[in-house]
Amino acid sequence: MLDAEVRELMQPFVLSDYQVQEVYSRFCLEVARGLKRSTHPQANVKCFPTYVQDLPTGDEMGKFLALDLGGTNFRVLLVSLKGHHDATVSSQIYAVPKDLMVGPGVELFDHIAGCLAKFVEKHDMKTAYLPLGFTFSFPCVQLGLKEGLLVRWTKGFDCPGVEGEDVGRMLHEAIQRRGDADIAVVAILNDTTGTLMSCAHRNADCRVGVIVGTGCNACYVEDVENVDLLHADFKKTKRQVIVNAEWGAFGEGGQLEFVRTEYDREVDEKSINRSEQLFEKMTAGMYLGNLVRLVLLRALERKLIFKQSSRRPEFASVLQKNQEVFETRYISEIEDDSFPEFASTRKIVKQLFGLEKASVEDCQTLRYICECVAKRAATLVAIGVSGLVNRTSNRRVIVGMDGSVYRYHPKFDSYMRQILQKLVKADKEWDIMLSEDGSGRGAALVAAVASKSK
Ligand code: BGC
Repeated sequence: MLDAEVRELMQPFVLSDYQVQEVYSRFCLEVARGLKRSTHPQANVKCFPTYVQDLPTGDEMGKFLALDLGGTNFRVLLVSLKGHHDATVSSQIYAVPKDLMVGPGVELFDHIAGCLAKFVEKHDMKTAYLPLGFTFSFPCVQLGLKEGLLVRWTKGFDCPGVEGEDVGRMLHEAIQRRGDADIAVVAILNDTTGTLMSCAHRNADCRVGVIVGTGCNACYVEDVENVDLLHADFKKTKRQVIVNAEWGAFGEGGQLEFVRTEYDREVDEKSINRSEQLFEKMTAGMYLGNLVRLVLLRALERKLIFKQSSRRPEFASVLQKNQEVFETRYISEIEDDSFPEFASTRKIVKQLFGLEKASVEDCQTLRYICECVAKRAATLVAIGVSGLVNRTSNRRVIVGMDGSVYRYHPKFDSYMRQILQKLVKADKEWDIMLSEDGSGRGAALVAAVASKSK
């Protein structure tokens, strides 16, 4: 049985029906403000047009390179689109050293171009002409399909000299500086766009793409007449365009203050992008473990966990060491654990604190803390998804999803479905599908569709 005091501790994370409805209304309003020219500058859900106006048909063919920068790793991929909704992908992961994440931008792009050159050499493609789709998963103002100005860094990146610059040009210049491969950057896209495209490749009803990974964001298909920022030329022949919501910034205008907790405020205050990306800080993998860590510290202080142990001050100092000690993947592992064995939970407790056999009660308390933090994240994501699904003009809407939190958390999907059931309009038919390699296949599809429509 859970202590009433533990329930009380977690109460601020449990959103009431009223709060869910209220966040939903505020979110929908922000999306509408982001789309409108007159309110766009003040809106915090920016709704940037992506210039991707064609969804894949499944017939796309050809070889494409793709780059994926934006999470914990950086990847280079070779994607062969084979028609008949089919594709093969071979890829290589490269680490992005911590100092490059906050060092001069030019060095980051040189590192990327260096990895790209190694990859091309390894695949024996040095002499081939290769179109490249660049999945750059940060907020960008797109000026066209292959030009994107970085608005701000997120997710722990902070490289001077890139904000306000065209990242397509920076990548192109870094490739030119090396001069050892014939690669053309033909498209820049967000990972959510990649997710939507790769799901649409499989299922023609996909209209929303969502990432809940290191960061959190979504895109959706909007009618061109509602997208004020899209240049008139792009409204003449095509009816729709993918809009990158950049919902991670939701709340920067104070809209989430009525649900943010003291823990959310602390996560924000200690982050390198203070007061920014407040919705992201409640939903994304980069922050969820840290939230659990802060709640655990409070639980230790109030003697609500490890009550029998005299080593509580020592446990607290382990948690105070750094913001990353309680990894977000532990949340998934703990919620996946079986009662009353709690094998994974006990392993994590032992690894963190050196405590041999945590009691069933302690494991339950820890699990409840994780559950409340993850469920709130899933609820918030589902509120946003519902808002976007309700905006699309289709009756049947598939939501393409990706990201480590969604993928590996055992209940994230079902938490989300409970909310979608309540908020999506009754005349819509919806479902969620897991994306297969949106950043690779999706980037190739954007590149392919772009060359086709030319
Ligand atoms: C970025 C988005 C991205 C999301 C998921 C956020 O921090 O602003 O552009 O889609 O992370 O990677």
